[in-house]
Amino acid sequence: MGPTSRDDAVEEVRARTDIVALIGRYLKLKKVGSRYVGLCPFHAEKTPSFSVNPQRGFFHCFGCKASGDVFSFVMRMEGKTFPEALEDLAEKAGVSLPAHKRADPQVREQRRRGLDLLELACAFYERCLWTSGAGEQARRYLRERGLGEDIARRFRLGFAPPGWQNLQEHLQAAGAPPADAIGVGLLLQGRSGPYDFFRNRLIFPVVDLDDRVHGFGGRKMDPDDPGGKYINSSQGPLYDKSRVLYGLAQARADIQRSGRVVLVEGYFDVLIPTAHGVEGVVASSGTALTQGHAQVLKRFCDRAITVFDADAAGAKATYRAAEVLLEQDISPYLVTLPAGQDPDSFVRGQGGEAFADLIEQSRPSVEVLAGELLAEAGADVEARTRAVRKLMPILTACRDRVRRSAYLRSLAERFRIDERELRLALQESRSAAPRPDGPPPRELRSEPPDEIWPEDELYCLALVVQHPHLLVELERSGALVSFRAVVLRRLLEEMIRDPDSSPEARIAQIEDGALKTRLSATLVKEQEVPAGRADEALAGCVRKIRAVRLRAQERDLQERIARAAEAGQEEELRSLQRTKLSVAKELKALGVAVKTVAG
Ligand code: UTP
Ligand code: MN
Repeated sequence: MGPTSRDDAVEEVRARTDIVALIGRYLKLKKVGSRYVGLCPFHAEKTPSFSVNPQRGFFHCFGCKASGDVFSFVMRMEGKTFPEALEDLAEKAGVSLPAHKRADPQVREQRRRGLDLLELACAFYERCLWTSGAGEQARRYLRERGLGEDIARRFRLGFAPPGWQNLQEHLQAAGAPPADAIGVGLLLQGRSGPYDFFRNRLIFPVVDLDDRVHGFGGRKMDPDDPGGKYINSSQGPLYDKSRVLYGLAQARADIQRSGRVVLVEGYFDVLIPTAHGVEGVVASSGTALTQGHAQVLKRFCDRAITVFDADAAGAKATYRAAEVLLEQDISPYLVTLPAGQDPDSFVRGQGGEAFADLIEQSRPSVEVLAGELLAEAGADVEARTRAVRKLMPILTACRDRVRRSAYLRSLAERFRIDERELRLALQESRSAAPRPDGPPPRELRSEPPDEIWPEDELYCLALVVQHPHLLVELERSGALVSFRAVVLRRLLEEMIRDPDSSPEARIAQIEDGALKTRLSATLVKEQEVPAGRADEALAGCVRKIRAVRLRAQERDLQERIARAAEAGQEEELRSLQRTKLSVAKELKALGVAVKTVAG
């Protein structure tokens, strides 16, 4: 019999998890007295300032001030939400969670079978690459493209032999039901039975953060093959191409340490630079960067450097990526490669160090784009006005009000346009109908108007100031990412990082006078929070904050669905609808009625 309440389960998992063993899987720990010390995985350092206290079940870094318990460690390290971390640790500790919290057992079982099949297929493709006679042509292909065996093995590359039945027979011999294999996109249903989806292709497994295979990309090696250059697993319950990033599992630690990710377009653009010692490189496979990708990345870093192909398509992707990234509050930077090059060809020609240098010299995307538009427009006032309008969608996408303001100021200066006029133009563009040309303006109705502060978020601050033990709860809830008031979120994040410092002192340092007053007032006004009900109050507050964010997402999705439907983008449409369904489900699970905030 497992624990019956979630709180009991949390405590039981905590008690049964050996924090030293857990953290020891990620870094080398050395015993010093009663503590263990090592190099902090959350920031770059050469001398150990990361310390684990097994008695208290806590870790703390004296360098970057990261600290917490086993759950916070898994959340930060693996980029998981609290429920995910709990599930993960519960499984490892052999604690069964209260039943209603878990997904439908049938769905779970199906999922497990799908993952097993994908793993089976991955191992099969690997064997075909390294040990089969037919694999020789794939091994030669890798040699010709300058990809060494160690990196190919690290990324578990494989080879799907020519022929229609290789994998099919292998799966059959293993007793796998064909329907399952069709369901995860490994086989296709033909008139005379199931047949292999990937044939005569180099195989790139796409894995999740736990190294489980979720799907594959396959590149043709024979130029006479009439199929597409790359084909990818079809979108399904296990493979969601709008969230999955190729190379993230391998690059994660570096991205976390450095706080930045290098975004490229293709499989080889990940593999070749990685093989040449450039770390933190990932690609969205077979699709443009989506909000889902950016959300995943946001768990690990707040800066992204896009290195897209130096062609028109690459330029467009760069612009769009900047928008998507800003919407998740990730700073977009960009590197421009010499014409006609991609990261793969650049690194093979110039070496990894030259590429690392380029990344070092990357510049903020908005600045670069503004510069290009300005150069194009020249001195003509009309042309300059048109040019600056092209940047409006990016500014609209920018969630962080402070940053948006900074952009506005710098653009006004560079384009020699009155800043107030620019602000007005921005407001117009926000409410304008989508135009057929160029990226559509993105409405951000979720952003509060400047003078209105989200009450729930302020209340949250008041709660944790009076009941500091709630800081841990707040962090654990994972609700901070849903905060609309970025300043508030930052403040709370700092408080979580350094719980001993006084929030009053922090608030005093805030430059924005109106905000300072508002925050101070909150601290004074909410004094009456009853001590016994503080946890409950926080939980309610967190639910509401989440719900508001989800509602905004829902509206945004609805808009994009309408646009995709209009443009006849079937696949995009289906994927958006699926996302919307899951958002609606999450919203329903919260059980909160939300008032719409006008914006
Ligand atoms: P590119 O066409 O830029 O190819 O596609 P590449 O990465 O340079 O490929 P190589 O170097 O010729 O092997 C970039 C990415 O877009 C996806 C793949 O993920 C590819 O890596 N793609 C491309 C497809 O999904 N299908 C295609 O037909 C082409
Ligand atoms: Mn290429």
